[in-house]
Amino acid sequence: MKPKIDYPALLAAALAAANKAYAPYSKFRVGAAALLDDGTLVTGSNQENAAYPLGSCAERVAVNYARSTYPERKILALAVASPDAPGRPVTPCGGCRQLLIEAVQAQGADITVIMSGLQLTATELLPHAFSK
Ligand code: THU
Repeated sequence: MKPKIDYPALLAAALAAANKAYAPYSKFRVGAAALLDDGTLVTGSNQENAAYPLGSCAERVAVNYARSTYPERKILALAVASPDAPGRPVTPCGGCRQLLIEAVQAQGADITVIMSGLQLTATELLPHAFSK
């Protein structure tokens, strides 16, 4: 059975994951929590690098981990949060939106993206997305 999406619990898991961020350069910690269709929760945090372009957003860490560890599962929802942006939504960057759209296309089902005070689907976050 498809698990019910508990929005506040998922946001809380994303916020908790942000405490594990490695963000010495930006000092902006971000956490992401992905809920899979069997109820599994996968979290990630941003991981920066002194060679700046090598850094990964929290969403990328969580989605790539989920898809590489549980390739047979679908991602139902992804929450994103930061303790360094109190009271405002942290929205996925353009690159992460493209990453999410690829997951949507591969799994044949949209992903609910949950941010503080804002919920959108991955498709709404990236309309007219590129695909091959
Ligand atoms: N970052 C994320 O992890 N997710 C977002 O949605 C936006 C930005 C990270 C990238 C970088 O480590 C830091 O936040 C500052 O941009």
